[in-house]
Amino acid sequence: MARPTLAAAPDTPTVVLTHHTPYPTGSWWFDYQGVVGAELLRSVLSRHPQVLRVVAGHVHRSTQTQWGPLVLSTAGSTAFQTGSGVGGEGPPIIVDHSAPATLLWWRDDTLVASGGRPRRPGHAPTCDISEEWAAYGDATRLGGTISSHRDTTS
Ligand SMILES: [Fe+2]
Repeated sequence: MARPTLAAAPDTPTVVLTHHTPYPTGSWWFDYQGVVGAELLRSVLSRHPQVLRVVAGHVHRSTQTQWGPLVLSTAGSTAFQTGSGVGGEGPPIIVDHSAPATLLWWRDDTLVASGGRPRRPGHAPTCDISEEWAAYGDATRLGGTISSHRDTTS
């Protein structure tokens, strides 16, 4: 099976996913080795404007940067988070806390990235509108007004 190439689909909006982060994130304990081929990747992507975004992983924290008009980011980990402060010299920090999954939504000619946390069993939502959802969904889709009255005493 032939591998798809950027040159073969110059008009196809494209998101490139990588494991290793092709830019320094400010966490010295991930950045110290750099990424072999990052400059080559940058050079290739600069010739393919259909690439809208690069999303990487590896560093277990959410970061963003730009190579010219191209946005690159890392997704927060759904396992544990790391940090030492951007540009910090302190010891590595690992926090037993998951980040929202990175959601990418393509509509018309716009790519929206957001963090979304699915409902998990045993974790009560801060604001549960599931009982009111039918009316809320109908009102918002029709452009109508939404009642601000909520019984918050129960
Ligand atoms: Fe990794």
